[in-house]
Amino acid sequence: MNEIIDRINTLKKEKNAVLLVHNYQRSEVQEIADILGDSLELSRKARETKADLIVFCGVRFMAETAKILSPDKKVLLPVKNAGCPMADMVTREDVLELRKEHPAAKVVCYVNSSADVKAECDVCCTSANAKKVVENIDADEIVFVPDRNLGHYVSRFTKKKVILFNGHCYVHNKVKSDEVARMKAEHPDFVLVSHPECPPEVIDLSDYVESTSGMLRLARDSDIDKFLIATEIGLIERLKRENPSKTFYSAVSPLVCFNMKKTTLGDVMSALENEEYAIELDPEVMQRAAGSLDEMLKYI
Ligand code: 13P
Ligand code: SF4
Repeated sequence: MNEIIDRINTLKKEKNAVLLVHNYQRSEVQEIADILGDSLELSRKARETKADLIVFCGVRFMAETAKILSPDKKVLLPVKNAGCPMADMVTREDVLELRKEHPAAKVVCYVNSSADVKAECDVCCTSANAKKVVENIDADEIVFVPDRNLGHYVSRFTKKKVILFNGHCYVHNKVKSDEVARMKAEHPDFVLVSHPECPPEVIDLSDYVESTSGMLRLARDSDIDKFLIATEIGLIERLKRENPSKTFYSAVSPLVCFNMKKTTLGDVMSALENEEYAIELDPEVMQRAAGSLDEMLKYI
């Protein structure tokens, strides 16, 4: 393992590469990150970096987002088929259809979507800024794609009409409110923190609803020391690593995003060695998708 890490570090220097890693990656991959974060932080860093090569340890839509924001850089996704099933639930054609049905609405798309979909939307959002984006966009009617749970969560905070699309994250959507309620009853002095991709009945039971990095900030900056966490296991591992004096339990039996776990240290090394797999997108699609992402980055 140390040999692989040494080789990764040598290749990174040789190629002026930066390693962006999402909070749900395997712990050993998180530990070698140059930047470790949630979707919003990683998007911002992808735009700002001075590196020539970006290796994105996450899922495809994240690497595509990095490419759209840094079109002149080479962006690598170490595992070709690391995708996000939620992102594949909505197509460009769905968005065009929704625009016809709701001509007065603006379309907000969760960053967990393809470049083609981003290109057809007015603005993107992540779980960290979705409330702000919906509240500030200049329209009273919003079509929100693809995550119905995040869209429903956001609709709680606005008087605007939010039209939901029927997509979901298979990892968070399986969080069952009865299981969470049982866990809460067994641990009455614990605080429940959920990701907004969880179903509404779970949100109703939650003390806090946060993006992955919002959860990290809450754990670091508050006096709370006992947490029930409703999100993917990779984030819970990071919470434990960074807050050794606090207690974190998964609010349900551990949630695993299998696509996030596909990337190993060996894959990162091969990606750097062979410069694979480079993200390539249609230039016109990239330019239009960049418009939706740039719009989002105004609402941080
Ligand atoms: P965050 O933006 O909170 O990191 O979430 C990304 C994601 O894919 C959640 O399932
Ligand atoms: Fe997609 Fe869900 Fe995995 Fe996030 S956790 S990448 S939304 S499948």
